[in-house]
Amino acid sequence: MSALLAKASRQGFLQAKTSISSQGACISTGRRFSRKKIALAVAGGVLGVGSVGVGMALLRPANAQELILHPPHYRWDFKGYFAAYDKASVRRGYQVYKQVCAACHTMEALCYRHLVDVCYSEREAKREAEEAMVWDGPNDAGQMFQRPGKLSDPFPKPYDNVEAAKAANNGAYPPDLGHVVLAREEAESYIFALLTGYCDPPAGYELADGMAYNPYFAGGAISMAQALYNEIIEYEDGTPATQSQLAKDVVTFLSWASDPDLEQRKKFGIKAGVVLFLMTPVAFYYKRFKFHTLYTQQIFWKKGK
Ligand code: HEC
Repeated sequence: MSALLAKASRQGFLQAKTSISSQGACISTGRRFSRKKIALAVAGGVLGVGSVGVGMALLRPANAQELILHPPHYRWDFKGYFAAYDKASVRRGYQVYKQVCAACHTMEALCYRHLVDVCYSEREAKREAEEAMVWDGPNDAGQMFQRPGKLSDPFPKPYDNVEAAKAANNGAYPPDLGHVVLAREEAESYIFALLTGYCDPPAGYELADGMAYNPYFAGGAISMAQALYNEIIEYEDGTPATQSQLAKDVVTFLSWASDPDLEQRKKFGIKAGVVLFLMTPVAFYYKRFKFHTLYTQQIFWKKGK
């Protein structure tokens, strides 16, 4: 009897199995579209949408204001993994900023104390700060007064407010230079190209009064007149002050100003790299140590009684 039941159940099981497999066969033969056809349809759709987009872009009139000359990619010596800022260049760049750019541009995030141990000693930076007269107060009599600057004072602003800055510059506001390197697409190379790229406008280009032409600036017409010329200042370390030298130094200074922690980060990166490198074999050994019982054991299944 039990043998019969066993046989029946085995047959039932076999029946169930066959019915599942026949259902599976039904599903697979019931597919209407082959994968190839679906892929072709999707590709056709993408191509169609793409060509409509291109067509619409071509219909738009070309705008000369959008034509920008992209700067060449210069190889800045502080860009490598192990490279640091050339501090002599940062110091010269600060001199260029102070004597040329600070007439129009602010650097609000920088104080004199930031220069200490970067490109000035503390005594030099204090002397530098004292040259600037800073408004302070009110004093006991309720009056504002001027005093020589301190290390904690920010760099002085050339204009009292945005409106005054615009009024003095043909309606354009000279942007804060503190993070300008990070705020432009081609960073240092763009600013170097901008400072050295002034030239006459091409024939037929109408330049408004008080504007200058610079092919690297979007649209070409810029409210900032050429600021750097050969020998416009005299470097205190005697470096020949050619236009490209001035531009390179001020860009190095601006790059440092936008990311003063760069060297700290690189140093930390190197330390972390060394530690991780040394820890790798230890981690590898520890993993083998912990896993060896798992890897060397065998599991046998015994038949129950
Ligand atoms: C006489 C005032 C003046 C001086 C000096 C000056 N600038 Fe400018 N600068 C401007 C004005 C105004 C603008 C805004 C231009 C515009 O938007 O058309 C500007 C814009 C800029 C920009 C931004 C350009 C952009 O892509 O938007 C940078 C960078 C810059 N100046 C750097 C410098 C540096 C570096 C120096 C010193 C070597 C300097 N400027 C000296 C007035 C000045």
